[in-house]
Amino acid sequence: MPQQEDVKLRLWKALEREVADCTRCPLHAERKQTVFGAGDLRAKLVFVGEGPGAEEDAQGIPFVGRAGKLLTDVLSAVHISRDQVYITNIVKCRPPGNRNPQTEEMLACERYLYAQLALINPRIIVTLGNVPTQWLLKTNEGITRIRGKWFEWKGIEVMPMFHPSYLLRNQSNKKGSPKYLTWQDIQEIRRKWDSLES
Ligand code: URA
Repeated sequence: MPQQEDVKLRLWKALEREVADCTRCPLHAERKQTVFGAGDLRAKLVFVGEGPGAEEDAQGIPFVGRAGKLLTDVLSAVHISRDQVYITNIVKCRPPGNRNPQTEEMLACERYLYAQLALINPRIIVTLGNVPTQWLLKTNEGITRIRGKWFEWKGIEVMPMFHPSYLLRNQSNKKGSPKYLTWQDIQEIRRKWDSLES
């Protein structure tokens, strides 16, 4: 429906402007710019990372550093391109020194992620690593235990996957290794994607 799409786009632009001006937590002080997200607003599949790193802070685009390139490769291994999905983070400003975002920072920022998810209304969310997984699913379970399983959040299927930075630190492809398991996970995500009617 063209009218609905129009309203959605206007709300999206307003949200993007609000995030660009945000000073709700101390992370705003050191950012070069906010990193809102990138991809298709009608995507069936959304990836949620932790927060921008140095490269993302410089470019204003999520997952463009080494970890991002690996994420792009993981997607293309199952013939999905970055512009067919939406990619964002729990926090939209870079935590200094690439530390994990703190609870207060995620609390201040979560409204933006939730608004993005409400507007996109995806069918699948993939959380990358412990931080977004535990935040979204409100669990203390570690990523090693819960990756590769399906959960539900507000009617949307959620699959936790290892963060690509973790894969960069663990290069083995052996059976049972993080890379091996991620290959299983992305294939399962692709199967779920294929099973959705458009
Ligand atoms: N790591 C993340 O979690 N997000 C990015 O955007 C880049 C690296």
